[in-house]
Amino acid sequence: MPDIPCFRSVLPLVFMMGICAHTPVAVAEPALMPQPRTYHLQSGVAPLTGGVAVEWQGMRSALLDQAVARFTQRLAALSGRDLAPGGRPGLTLRIHCLAPDADMLSIHMREHYRLRTDAQGATLEADGPAGVLRGLATLLQLVERQEAGPVLDAAEIDDSPRFAWRGLLVDVSRHFMSLAALERQLDMMELTKLNVLHLHLSDGQGFRVESRLYPRLQQVASHGQYYTQQQVRGLVAYAARRGIRIVPEFDTPGHSYALLLAYPQYAAQPVAAPMDPKRVVRAAIDPTSPQARDFIAGLYHEMAGLFPDAYFHVGGDEVRPDEWTGNSRINAWMQQHGYTTATLQAMYTQRVHDMLARDGRIMMGWDELLDAPIPASIVIESWRGSRYTAAATQAGHPVVVSSGYYLDLLLPAAEHYRVDPLDPQGNGLPPDQVAQAHAPFLEPFALDPAARMTPVQDARVMGAEAALWTEIVTEEMLDNRLWPRAAALAERFWSSASVRDAASLATRLPVVQAELELLGNRATADRARMMARLAPDDVTPLATLLSVTSPVRNYAHNHVFGPSRVVPTADPRPLDRAADIAATDNTQAAVFYRDVLSCLAGHKDLAASLRARLENWRDNDARLRLLAQRDPSVAEVLPASALLARLAQAGLDAMNTPATAWREQAEAALATARGQFAASASMLAVRTSPQPAGDLLPDITPGIMALVQAARSSDSVVRQGAGIR
Ligand code: ACM
Repeated sequence: MPDIPCFRSVLPLVFMMGICAHTPVAVAEPALMPQPRTYHLQSGVAPLTGGVAVEWQGMRSALLDQAVARFTQRLAALSGRDLAPGGRPGLTLRIHCLAPDADMLSIHMREHYRLRTDAQGATLEADGPAGVLRGLATLLQLVERQEAGPVLDAAEIDDSPRFAWRGLLVDVSRHFMSLAALERQLDMMELTKLNVLHLHLSDGQGFRVESRLYPRLQQVASHGQYYTQQQVRGLVAYAARRGIRIVPEFDTPGHSYALLLAYPQYAAQPVAAPMDPKRVVRAAIDPTSPQARDFIAGLYHEMAGLFPDAYFHVGGDEVRPDEWTGNSRINAWMQQHGYTTATLQAMYTQRVHDMLARDGRIMMGWDELLDAPIPASIVIESWRGSRYTAAATQAGHPVVVSSGYYLDLLLPAAEHYRVDPLDPQGNGLPPDQVAQAHAPFLEPFALDPAARMTPVQDARVMGAEAALWTEIVTEEMLDNRLWPRAAALAERFWSSASVRDAASLATRLPVVQAELELLGNRATADRARMMARLAPDDVTPLATLLSVTSPVRNYAHNHVFGPSRVVPTADPRPLDRAADIAATDNTQAAVFYRDVLSCLAGHKDLAASLRARLENWRDNDARLRLLAQRDPSVAEVLPASALLARLAQAGLDAMNTPATAWREQAEAALATARGQFAASASMLAVRTSPQPAGDLLPDITPGIMALVQAARSSDSVVRQGAGIR
């Protein structure tokens, strides 16, 4: 390793590439996520040796008993010990639920709790049952596995959420997700204190709930993949036991192709099978038809009977105006009654609002609803940038923010984490037509002065949602695409706005993910199965490559389905390529970068291990090429593997070679890698740039850049010392 005088100068370059910079952080504390409001780690631990003895004070209920039973099972799974009650006395858990909560499962539910753990056990005091659930989730994150056995770290915590609405949107229309998959997500949500599951239950590709009133919906528009009414009730109850509300979304008047396939008489333009991807994204209901409006009234009434939450999401996004203006009868009606397409949608919105109000429901919809005046009580979900959060709150609407939190953009966790729901940021999300119609194209998460808000506006933001649209997410990929990024966003939505340290996030995220996996999360297991299918002869070379590569970003990978980024589920295409398996956040790459910086800062003991990792990545290429001869389906990753080898060689050269002969190859490899990151650094870039073969990005790039730049600086010091310029 050359003596390297300076490494700080690489940091701006690393940030320019949009890759988070991780600095070393000692893991002396338990990985709490979300971070509590106040939290003091104490000395001492409580050993987890025997059963859990629960002492109740105050209120007790079946919901709380079930929560404690789940807690005990989870504690056993985390600690590896049988901690069933009744055994040898071990941990004493004192629970004091101060009062029942009339607002349980509303946005006012009482989630505040206080938790103290010490050598004598744990004391949890909560304002209501939801607070007990949140406190138990924290308690599980205090479990530490020490050499002498599992313990609970001693701590004093006083905690409550910043936002009352902390959601996760799962699109079950594009790809259906089984009940088991959804229940697993609800478990993960409970563990990370997310409290709203927003189910996107209907879209162009499928309608997913049994309707007794309109059975053709499941018969014609679900491909046999839907939830029965009994299953819906079961799922709602499963969520409720975890202090989680389910908010359903049935998207109209646009995004309604599936619905209209079943009932074509209500469509603005002819709708017919087989699914035509262009029609799937366009078809809209005819809002001028009283029969169509009665159909929607009947459907929403029936669905409101299944989903007890106060909020009911009706979509309202991305309506294509020419679906209406292209129909001469609708056009004539609009002219006669003096409507534009915007005011026609507002008329439809008003009617739906009134229908839902009769069922006691608060209407919620996407930010396109703001295009014409609508009742201020309608909750707006902003997705196209925070200027829509600002516009909605200025007009008096309560707002839930999902702009900045679209997990299907396949950005690393840190990119979403640094966006606060109240930040004046654009997110560059609008797809082509919407961008032209409604918003200037914004670079991802760039400052948008039009989105500045007053404190009164801030107070109208009820919370935020992470969203996973599933055009290219099958059930097998669900856990990997949601977690651990949803945990990072759970912290963004729960913890103080000042909790923003990306380095701390990077340190805690793998620990939290490992715990979630011990408690049922399937991300690693599902990826392992997918890799084994792709490379049945020997999975190791592919696994090595994918341990340090991530998928291209900002919908660049969606190009496999063509420009419309739509795939009808009736015609499922395989989602089993390497980029479908690759994770957005690779711990090995993050740790490599951290270790490089440490090494350059003087921890020379890390050099041998860095070299070993670089040699492994370099030599992996030959192994992968051999494998590709036997398993041709891995052939498409060979260019990514070759680049990994070149980058690894550049890193080794930078560590080993004082001369400059290697420099040209290293710079060329880095230029290729940087170009690959730039090609999907924004949606604009995606539209104009060819993507790397295999849609994979080399995540070791920041570490290699640091090594090469450090070698370059040290080399120039040597050369200058020798009088060479
Ligand atoms: C949306 O992404 N169209 C809400």
